[in-house]
Amino acid sequence: MWIEFASRDRKELRMTANGSTLIQLEGIKKVFYTDDVETHALSEVYLTIRQGEYVSISGPSGCGKTTLLSILGLLDTPTAGTYLLEGEQVSHLSTLARAEIRNRRIGFIYQAFNLIGDLTVYENVELPLTYGPMSHVDRQGRVQRALEKVGMTHRAQHYPALLSGGQQQRVAVARAVVGDPAILLADEPTGNLDSTNGEAVMALLRELHRNGVTICMVTHDPRYANHADRTVQMFDGRVLEDVVTASPNTEPPWAGKLPIILS
Ligand SMILES: Nc1ncnc2c1ncn2[C@@H]1O[C@H](COP(=O)(O)OP(=O)(O)OP(=O)(O)O)[C@@H](O)[C@H]1O
Ligand SMILES: [Mg+2]
Repeated sequence: MWIEFASRDRKELRMTANGSTLIQLEGIKKVFYTDDVETHALSEVYLTIRQGEYVSISGPSGCGKTTLLSILGLLDTPTAGTYLLEGEQVSHLSTLARAEIRNRRIGFIYQAFNLIGDLTVYENVELPLTYGPMSHVDRQGRVQRALEKVGMTHRAQHYPALLSGGQQQRVAVARAVVGDPAILLADEPTGNLDSTNGEAVMALLRELHRNGVTICMVTHDPRYANHADRTVQMFDGRVLEDVVTASPNTEPPWAGKLPIILS
């Protein structure tokens, strides 16, 4: 089976890629205060991510990668600095306002998959759509398409515990993209997978990117970092190096020809 993306919207999005600024961080700091200890997790981070980019973030353990992703994903707020998401200042919104934007505009993939055990695959993928107004038919169509993208329609009625790690992560990818987010944030998405399943998930991300999704992925693994078009190296709460290796949405020769492992 081959991954197929026929969405017209996605193609249009690709044409508008290569440009508009999606995320702009200016002097972001994050300090955690615990029992008289101050941890400076982020110190003056400046980062701009444009629509259609595929950015990988690497760096030693404790350098602030997850903290940065949490701020990008509006799960946490910076101690200082400015965060513009699609031109809107979102650094210091209320928890409710952040949750609202997060549900509409941001998709997450975690190392530990984070699927809900007593919901089926279908229900897990449907979950992000249940927070907003959408007809049952529209929801059904979106869930169906998201499951098709990751090759998991045949397991729609299974519970996560019955799936392999690779399958669970593919369901998590479907859940992350079902709402058509502005950006997909992934924190070590292959961290709990063997290399075959890791490669399959990476192929899936690459294919999503090729079809217009903007991705920001934290990874320890240099092989996977190289899938991205831009690699950001962090050290001690700062961006140490930011290298563009390809223009956004440049298609590698094997694009569109990746097999997806169905197990
Ligand atoms: N909720 C918290 N309370 C206190 N300190 C925290 C909290 N979250 C993170 N930290 C500290 O902030 C620093 C950055 O942590 P972070 O989880 O962002 O690192 P990381 O780069 O993702 O590391 P890893 O590669 O191990 O996942 C660390 O020193 C960590 O101990
Ligand atoms: Mg981390």
